[in-house]
Amino acid sequence: MGRLTRTLGPTAAIAAALALWVLAVTAAPAQTAAATPPEAGAGSVAQAGGYVGEDTCLTCHEQQSYKGTAHALKGDARTPAATQGCESCHGPGQAHVDGGGDKTKIKTFKTLGPVEANQVCTTCHTRGAHLLWDSSAHENRDVTCVTCHSVHSAKSEAAQLKFRTEAETCAVCHRDKVQKLNRSAHMPVQSGAAREGKMACSSCHNPHGSTNVRLLKTGQSVNDSCLTCHAEKRGPYLWEHAAVAESCTSCHDPHGSSNDRMLVTKQPFLCQRCHVTARHPPTIYDNYVRNNTTGANRILTRSCTVCHQNIHGSNAASGQFFLR
Ligand code: HEC
Ligand code: HEC
Ligand code: HEC
Ligand code: HEC
Ligand code: HEC
Ligand code: HEC
Ligand code: HEC
Ligand code: HEC
Ligand code: HEC
Ligand code: HEC
Repeated sequence: MGRLTRTLGPTAAIAAALALWVLAVTAAPAQTAAATPPEAGAGSVAQAGGYVGEDTCLTCHEQQSYKGTAHALKGDARTPAATQGCESCHGPGQAHVDGGGDKTKIKTFKTLGPVEANQVCTTCHTRGAHLLWDSSAHENRDVTCVTCHSVHSAKSEAAQLKFRTEAETCAVCHRDKVQKLNRSAHMPVQSGAAREGKMACSSCHNPHGSTNVRLLKTGQSVNDSCLTCHAEKRGPYLWEHAAVAESCTSCHDPHGSSNDRMLVTKQPFLCQRCHVTARHPPTIYDNYVRNNTTGANRILTRSCTVCHQNIHGSNAASGQFFLR
């Protein structure tokens, strides 16, 4: 509220106060959804508090329907259709209609700031996946609900996204990540929507906020998140590889890479970023060692995991070097 009154003029502040009051009114049905069965459509509450009802709006705005979307389901007592209709989001429209369609007397998303635009949606969407929206990475950077979603002209099959697929929606700002997905085999990640059996950004991330780092959907760390699906890598191991316990992303790029298994770089360099010396020659450039030690031939395979097979950890009694 403070933020609103400071940035707006006095008349606008009154309008904002009214808007918040309206939000409180529209919020009520959401909270008592289970107790109060849906009575009727938007029309029945039309006259209260300067509301004209959806049918009136549609006489002039027949193009702006939201038919066929989740918001139009009157059977769910929490939807706009079961509450104030258009005015659940655009606020009471009496003054707008009396003014012959006066643009300044109706809430339009063309002029709402990010905080106010989000408030419209979070009147109803505060639970489940949306619980942690406030101060999430996106909210903090003024990404709004309607940056990704569209109420009237969604392009996706699910979730009313502005673009046909989730990846396209994210690519507006995170093109580098989306391009990587096309490069490698983590998935068969689909650059398309989260279709059954395929992965999408939201398989790992919750764009609405999370308790983990980097908007990761599950767990409290990067590794927790990977281990949700790759449980077999969890251990506990008799012989743990410190690098694995620390972070899967030391060696794998979760978004994909040009190397097998989404490895951040090829072997032996992958390992040699940390293992600069070993009893057998650590690098192919180490000519002296290569020519003068019995272990020298080991490097010729160039792939450390040919021998160090259980690189994620070993439970064999003699698995100290992850050879078995
Ligand atoms: C009498 C016809 C009429 C009715 C009824 C009416 N509007 Fe409008 N509305 C208009 C006109 C005209 C405009 C201005 C369009 C323009 O200038 O582009 C407008 C503009 C708007 C805008 C802003 C559009 C923009 O481009 O900024 C919104 C949002 C809106 N109306 C919503 C509603 C809602 C919600 C209702 C029902 C409560 C409603 N209107 C009822 C005629 C009407
Ligand atoms: C769930 C919230 C919601 C409901 C319900 C809703 N709108 Fe909108 N409306 C929006 C959002 C968000 C936009 C911005 C464009 C988009 O998301 O499609 C918008 C855009 C508009 C616009 C274009 C001007 C602008 O603000 O960008 C008009 C006009 C409009 N709506 C009228 C209506 C009418 C008439 C109804 C009822 C039939 C209605 N809306 C129902 C949220 C809503
Ligand atoms: C009056 C309450 C209300 C308001 C305001 C509201 N919604 Fe919803 N919305 C619902 C309900 C109820 C559902 C259906 C149940 C659910 O998915 O939670 C829904 C569903 C959705 C869905 C899921 C669609 C699908 O096909 O799965 C999206 C996306 C969505 N709303 C976005 C928005 C956005 C963006 C805004 C703000 C512009 C908004 N909503 C405003 C009540 C509301
Ligand atoms: C960065 C893009 C982005 C932003 C910002 C965003 N969403 Fe979403 N939303 C998505 C994607 C992608 C999905 C589908 C995948 C999923 O369910 O996580 C989705 C799913 C949904 C759903 C349907 C599934 C569910 O969680 O019930 C609703 C409702 C929804 N969003 C509402 C909102 C609201 C309200 C806001 C603002 C508070 C918002 N979204 C902000 C991208 C976004
Ligand atoms: C309109 C631009 C925009 C869109 C679209 C967008 N993001 Fe973001 N995203 C941002 C910004 C800005 C940040 C914050 C970057 C920062 O703080 O360095 C961010 C941060 C993130 C982060 C990192 C969070 C953190 O804690 O560092 C993840 C993960 C993310 N976005 C995922 C997604 C996904 C998934 C989608 C699509 C569903 C998406 N984003 C769509 C702008 C966007
Ligand atoms: C397999 C899981 C997974 C999938 C799928 C995934 N991510 Fe990530 N993402 C992660 C992990 C783990 C991190 C944290 C990496 C780190 O901190 O080293 C991350 C970090 C990010 C970041 C912030 C870090 C940065 O480098 O800026 C953004 C933005 C992001 N992801 C966007 C996306 C987008 C967009 C998609 C879909 C195209 C996507 N992610 C798909 C797991 C995933
Ligand atoms: C939502 C589930 C899920 C999450 C979370 C997940 N993965 Fe995966 N991962 C998969 C699936 C499915 C495959 C494909 C398995 C297959 O093809 O047999 C896969 C494959 C892989 C592969 C092998 C790729 C190849 O070329 O064979 C690696 C490496 C991998 N994931 C690492 C990770 C890492 C690291 C993380 C955490 C950042 C992670 N995964 C998070 C589901 C997931
Ligand atoms: C020290 C580097 C390193 C770290 C850290 C690491 N991996 Fe790997 N991972 C590899 C290498 C190398 C391969 C390829 C092994 C091969 O081709 O024989 C691999 C292969 C995989 C595969 C595909 C083959 C298989 O064994 O199923 C998955 C899945 C995988 N890693 C998941 C993870 C997860 C989850 C984590 C974090 C818990 C992780 N990795 C941490 C190096 C690492
Ligand atoms: C991010 C750094 C890092 C990377 C990358 C890495 N390791 Fe390690 N590795 C370690 C650390 C730390 C230890 C524990 C060292 C110790 O206990 O002396 C370790 C231990 C080992 C050990 C057991 C050593 C001993 O003396 O017990 C072997 C074998 C090993 N790593 C092989 C590999 C191979 C092969 C690769 C590449 C696939 C690799 N490591 C990649 C950090 C790394
Ligand atoms: C031909 C099999 C083979 C290959 C290939 C191989 N190693 Fe080893 N490595 C071993 C054996 C066996 C040991 C056990 C100690 C010993 O006998 O020297 C070992 C031990 C180690 C150790 C722990 C002991 C020490 O010397 O610090 C590290 C670290 C290690 N290897 C890293 C690597 C890296 C990095 C690569 C790839 C550049 C690699 N190994 C390639 C067989 C191999």
